[in-house]
Amino acid sequence: MQAVILVGGEGTRLRPLTYTIPKPVIPMMNLPFLHFQISLCKKHGITEIILSTNYLASVFEEVFGDGSEWGVRLTYVTEEEPLDTCGAVKNVEEHIRDTFLVFNGDVLTDLDLSALIAYHREKKALVTITLTPVDDPTAYGLVPIDSEGRILEFLEKPGLDQVITDLINAGTYVLEPEVLDRVPPAQRFSFERQLFPGLLEEGKPMFGFRSTSYWLDIGTPEKYLMAHRDILDGKLQFDFPGEEVEPSVWVGENTVIEEGAKIYGPVLIGSNCHVRKGAVVSSQTVLGDDCCLGEETRVDDSVLLSGVSLAEGCVVSSSVLGRGVKLGKNVQVAGLSVLGEGVEVGDNNEFRGGIRIWPFRKIDADTIHF
Ligand code: GDD
Ligand code: MG
Repeated sequence: MQAVILVGGEGTRLRPLTYTIPKPVIPMMNLPFLHFQISLCKKHGITEIILSTNYLASVFEEVFGDGSEWGVRLTYVTEEEPLDTCGAVKNVEEHIRDTFLVFNGDVLTDLDLSALIAYHREKKALVTITLTPVDDPTAYGLVPIDSEGRILEFLEKPGLDQVITDLINAGTYVLEPEVLDRVPPAQRFSFERQLFPGLLEEGKPMFGFRSTSYWLDIGTPEKYLMAHRDILDGKLQFDFPGEEVEPSVWVGENTVIEEGAKIYGPVLIGSNCHVRKGAVVSSQTVLGDDCCLGEETRVDDSVLLSGVSLAEGCVVSSSVLGRGVKLGKNVQVAGLSVLGEGVEVGDNNEFRGGIRIWPFRKIDADTIHF
């Protein structure tokens, strides 16, 4: 079976990280995010994957190549203009041979794809949508089903008054290729707002596969950090890179942790990092490769991408620092703040409560940002 992964979106809710890295390539546990979906496909014997790209399209091929590193074969199809979710799949139609899978490219899950496909066949469905329960369905596609699993309605981003179930579209579908016959070529077309409601109106067999597997859309800073926490906490299976130097502390090659630095797991530290004496790295933190934490720095519940350096006395808490961010002395970053790639911050700055700093900005010393 083939899989199409939709990776063309701009990832606006994850800006500024997505200004320089497309969302599906943003590091998750120091690996490009799509690693997780590609590995899941591989685990279920799906080795032919088509990536539907648009935004920052060239980055995907640079990172994933022909897929052989993951034991899969990757084909790239780039839209000239974004065609929306279903238009993007129509655009890869010439590569599709039979019943196929579609993934949203920003979902972290250990969904049982084999069970999903078996369910689709058993129900003789035209479309099967994976469903997962969430607390607040208003940010997703709401999908009520009957006792047989038949989908009754598809309500994308419903209002609170429309919420009649907690089951939402988990962004993984099994489709019969013939559904693409009803999609106009080279035009914007949406699964969620057009194809699915249209098929339901005509009474076509669309089924919902209820999954209780781990599931998270990583598309906001809050969810991005939550995904890291969950993986560190062992909520889904993951082969940690590096060596487990003490329980739940994984460290990459050539990393130096000076005596007098304290590391409280679960923590993942990349290769070629330097953690100086007096630094404290607390649980739920991930440091990318080539990071340097100065003396008396503290990092907790945060993700630092590769090449980040913190001068002495910095404190980073529940925040994300993009590639190559440099913080001067005694800088504080807290409360879901996100600093974009290459940002350079002078001494004694303070970032509070969800501040986002655009890539490559240089910030003078001594300012509070909130
Ligand atoms: N190729 C291509 N072209 N891909 C696109 C386009 C496009 O024009 N627009 C969006 N995508 C990709 C995005 O890159 C992402 O991987 C996926 O389609 C879904 O887009 P999001 O922007 O992340 O949508 P969402 O999270 O608001 O909602 C979708 O996902 C929810 C589950 O996470 C919907 O499918 C909801 O119904 C669903 O509940
Ligand atoms: Mg999404």
